[in-house]
Parts: sequence; C-alpha cells; structure tokens
Amino acid sequence: MDHYIVFSGTGNCLYCVNELVKRSASPTKITILKDTNYQASFVAEALILVFPVYAYTLPLVIKQFIKYASINCNYLAVMISGGSIAGRAFLETRKRFKKRQLIVNYEYFMRSPENFGALFASTTSKNNLRYLQMTNSLSEVAHSLALRSNKIITEAPFLTIIPSFFFSLFHGSIFLANHSSKKCCNSCGLCVKICPFKSVTLNSQGRPKFNRKTCNHCQRCINYCPTKAISMLLQGHKKPRFVNKFISLKDYFS
Ligand SMILES: Cc1cc2nc3c(=O)[nH]c(=O)nc-3n(C[C@H](O)[C@H](O)[C@H](O)COP(=O)(O)O)c2cc1C
Ligand code: SF4
Ligand code: SF4
Repeated sequence: MDHYIVFSGTGNCLYCVNELVKRSASPTKITILKDTNYQASFVAEALILVFPVYAYTLPLVIKQFIKYASINCNYLAVMISGGSIAGRAFLETRKRFKKRQLIVNYEYFMRSPENFGALFASTTSKNNLRYLQMTNSLSEVAHSLALRSNKIITEAPFLTIIPSFFFSLFHGSIFLANHSSKKCCNSCGLCVKICPFKSVTLNSQGRPKFNRKTCNHCQRCINYCPTKAISMLLQGHKKPRFVNKFISLKDYFS
C-alpha cells in the first residue's frame, strides 16, 4: 500500500497527491496533516510525504510529524512543492528522518504556482503555465514511485546557507497572518473554520486574532478570506490571492 501524507495550505500539494493517486496502480491511502494527527502511527509499504517549502525550509507541522509520528515503511519518498527553490528543505528533511533512523529513498521538487502573494504575487497566465508543467511532472513522479526509484536532490551550498540565514531572521516574526483592515472583515468566521491548526479565533468585535505559536504561515486564511481582510507583511487587501483552482475547500476536510 502507498500511504500519502500531505500538508497543503492552498491546494498545490493536495492537487499533486490527488493526481498521483489517480496515476497509481497500487492501493493508496491519503492522510491530510493538521493539528491533531501528526503524532499518529503510519505503517505502509511506501510512505510518500508531500508538503510546501516555506522560507527555504520545512513547515512546522512537518518538523513535528517527523519528530513525533510513528513511521514504519520500506520505501520513503519526499515531494516538496515550491514557487522557486527548495533551499535547505530536502537537506533538513533528510537530516530529521535520519535522527529517527529513517532513510529517504526518493526526492522531487515540484515547481508550482506561488501562493505567497505578499512578496511574489503571480499572474494567472504564469499560474496556468505552472499547472501544465505540474501535470507533466506528475506523470514522471508517478512512474518513479511505481518503480520505487532512488533519487536524492543535491543542493548547491549557497542555496542552503543564505536562505537559512533569512529564515532564522524572519520566520515566526514577519511571516505572520494579520488582520489588515477592520473595514473589510464581515465577521463570517471562515478563517476560524478553515485554519488547519485552530490558530484563528474571533474577538468580541468579530475580528480575527492569530495564535503566533501555532500558525504555520500556510496562507489558507489569507487566500480564502472572501474580503481579503487578512494579509501578511505589507500585503494589504489589494494584492491578488492564490488558491489552487482544482481544489475546493471541502477537499481539505475529506
Ligand atoms: C511563508 C511562505 C514561504 C514560502 N517560501 C518559499 C520558498 O522558500 N521557496 C519556494 O520555492 N516557494 C516558497 N513558497 C511558495 C510555496 O511553497 C508554494 O506556493 C507551494 O506550492 C504552496 O503549496 P500549497 O498550495 O500546497 O500550500 C512559500 C510560501 C509561503 C506561504
Ligand atoms: S474570513 Fe475574512 S471576512 Fe471572514 S471573519 Fe475571517 S477575516 Fe473576516
Ligand atoms: S492562521 Fe492562517 S496562515 Fe496561520 S496556519 Fe492558520 S490558516 Fe494558515
């Protein structure tokens, strides 16, 4: 059995997993990671971990999953989705699995539409091109997984050192969701319902408050808010938001 473990803020990683499952001849199972299930037991012939790169390294939930989950498999694959480069993400993942006596067999970097609108807002035509590239790449990945191929990504040193500096400087401080304008929030509560980590609550005025310790910076509340009332950095409510067009909100909870 192939067990896909996925974390996805805005749909790209979930889309990849759904497409890989469609292309797989083996029996498959999907677990979508959230605040409550990363410490579970995962037993499978092949375990395929799929997640986005954040600031050239791993989302917090993936660090916690690798640290606390009970994992038993014969083949371990890691697919990381990102808008540009993975930086230290593969190296960090490998090191963390090694501490648990687990060896990564296969790695793949999936270039995807950029969801971090605060810095890298993308155009619809660029995103559509990325969707096409993803579709082609997914066939290659599905084939490699079926063959249980071995492939490890080698990072150029400058790509791992410089970004890790920026990460230590910024992560957890400026990469935080915040409420951008009291005028545009309509107190619908969607942000509370869809956050994978229960990091959002509404205050007595019906405006969102964010838990700095548990927020993974995944952009879901920011990009799905119907009035663009949530932002990151100096994003404001004018810049375009991105969500994967093949994934609907209910897919994260199925
Ligand atoms: C806080 C943050 C930091 C990011 N940093 C990187 C990065 O370092 N390199 C990169 O290629 N993409 C980066 N991205 C882009 C996402 O990894 C990419 O859009 C990914 O496909 C999103 O996957 P999802 O839709 O499944 O959440 C970043 C996104 C966010 C939200
Ligand atoms: S989803 Fe947007 S509009 Fe709705 S409560 Fe949250 S911030 Fe306000
Ligand atoms: S608060 Fe928003 S950005 Fe932070 S984890 Fe929840 S949905 Fe993601």
